[in-house]
Amino acid sequence: MKLFIDSADLKEIKDCVEMGVVDGCTTNPSLLAKVGRKIETVIPEICEIVDGPVSAEVVAIDAEGILKEGRVLAKLHKNVVVKVPLIAEGLKAVKVFTKEGIKTNVTLCFSANQALLAAKAGATYISPFIGRIDDTSHEGMKLIEDIVAIYENFGFETQVLTASVRSPLHVVQAALLGSHCATIPASILKLLLKHPLTDSGLEKFLEDTKKNAEKAK
Ligand code: E4P
Repeated sequence: MKLFIDSADLKEIKDCVEMGVVDGCTTNPSLLAKVGRKIETVIPEICEIVDGPVSAEVVAIDAEGILKEGRVLAKLHKNVVVKVPLIAEGLKAVKVFTKEGIKTNVTLCFSANQALLAAKAGATYISPFIGRIDDTSHEGMKLIEDIVAIYENFGFETQVLTASVRSPLHVVQAALLGSHCATIPASILKLLLKHPLTDSGLEKFLEDTKKNAEKAK
């Protein structure tokens, strides 16, 4: 399973990359607004840190505008994946991008039918937003299960990129369901590491090493 970092913050991206567990990165307009930086400057910098696909999102909502913006983004670096909203105009653009060899991440997916259409248009990745579905009192993870099954039924090559991840449980559930990738905020990625028995076990080993150093003098 590929783990992507869901961030536009260079410092936290670098920190997670150094742990050796990051396969790619996703950004969106809200994450860019959080760091207050322009897409055309931050994406090349992320690509220098992350050795893998880096999603950069268009903000146009007509096919022509999406194509124009996406082609500029794709030229920023060979690893750029153009992130396109799951609307009819977006799918029209995805079809053209696919023909041009530009990779796409179709975003804002909230239903299995939307994911089916994105795959048919040739999307490289589909991003179902699990946390936002949970927020509406529906089970986000059921959507991952459905999309994985549909893609497997028909041999679609589109990769399921579980997004809007809010907890370590989302990550393990997505992995068990066979989601190809998950994009995870740095704070959640760090929580994946956490186990109280690891901490207490390490503390005991260090304590015993100290005691032994005194004893073995
Ligand atoms: C990533 O591709 C998505 O834009 C992101 O995971 C959305 O997360 P949010 O629902 O926490 O904003």
